[in-house]
Amino acid sequence: MNTDDLGRRVADDVAGAGGLDGLRRLSGVIAALEERRTGLVEELRRGKQATWEEIGRACGMTRQGATRRWTGRLQARSFGTAAASYQHGRPGYPHALIGSAVPREARRVLDLGAGTGQLTRLLVDAGLDVVAVEPDEDMRALLAAYAPRAAVRAGTAERIPLPDGSVDAVVVAHAWHWFDQAAALSEIARVLTPGGTLALVWNVRDESQPWTAELGALMRRSTRRRIDTAPVVPAPFGAPERLEIRWEHQTTPAGILDMVASRSYVIALPEAERAGLLADVERLLATHPDLAGRERIAMPYLTRCTRVRLG
Ligand SMILES: C[S@@+](CC[C@H](N)C(=O)[O-])C[C@H]1O[C@@H](n2cnc3c(N)ncnc32)[C@H](O)[C@@H]1O
Repeated sequence: MNTDDLGRRVADDVAGAGGLDGLRRLSGVIAALEERRTGLVEELRRGKQATWEEIGRACGMTRQGATRRWTGRLQARSFGTAAASYQHGRPGYPHALIGSAVPREARRVLDLGAGTGQLTRLLVDAGLDVVAVEPDEDMRALLAAYAPRAAVRAGTAERIPLPDGSVDAVVVAHAWHWFDQAAALSEIARVLTPGGTLALVWNVRDESQPWTAELGALMRRSTRRRIDTAPVVPAPFGAPERLEIRWEHQTTPAGILDMVASRSYVIALPEAERAGLLADVERLLATHPDLAGRERIAMPYLTRCTRVRLG
């Protein structure tokens, strides 16, 4: 049987008698198949076993179609290859954020795209009952080690592994821009209790100091991506409450290098370019008059939070 016939047979079996039940079953299977296809593309690219040309041909697409479809997804899933740098170099969040990101009455909180647990730990320390969902296995291993009191689950924002109405609040720190936002919003609305909240959080580097401006210029050399850190969230969520907190992350020269090395666009660079960028950052740290010879560095950040309520 050729693959077209096989596909038609499977689709008919899954859709059964059709109707809304058939549509639901078919959609679930399509999502799972798409997830598996992305996983295969990821394996082939990571191991450099196939070119985009070959992957496109296997999927019935052009090379450009295949890269357009998957490079964003692959970048979103690249953090695990730099999980230790991520854990060491990325800043946490200021304590004051929790009171704004999570309403006082909330008890059960989902940290979605939890990474290595930078925000998860703060949520647990605030006495909340936390579920942390993270798709990447290597990130999840560190998450479980660094936030042992959180319930850690494999999953994605587009298919959250939790029952309907099971959490009072969802927080997404530095991950919203990686999600398929329409699919994620519908899943978030499903797992929230009525009147539950969603908080979208980012740490933005404060570039008002000469050395932070130079660091930012070096990092922007390798990416054109700009993230919207005050996003509009559509219905069924209500009007946004927005908050900004200025604070300093106490770090070291090695911590700043790891912060740079764990950016997805740096992970994705060809090796020579990646090494060149990290060498330039190292030079800045060693020679800038505000930094040279310092073992401890205070890196200024602005934490931005947008909170919306369901219904
Ligand atoms: C920049 S990290 C942020 C991690 C953590 N929340 C923090 O604040 O440090 C982005 C995380 O989102 C995860 N991620 C990417 N795509 C995702 C998706 N579709 N659903 C859930 N998580 C995703 C990545 O694996 C990564 O751990």
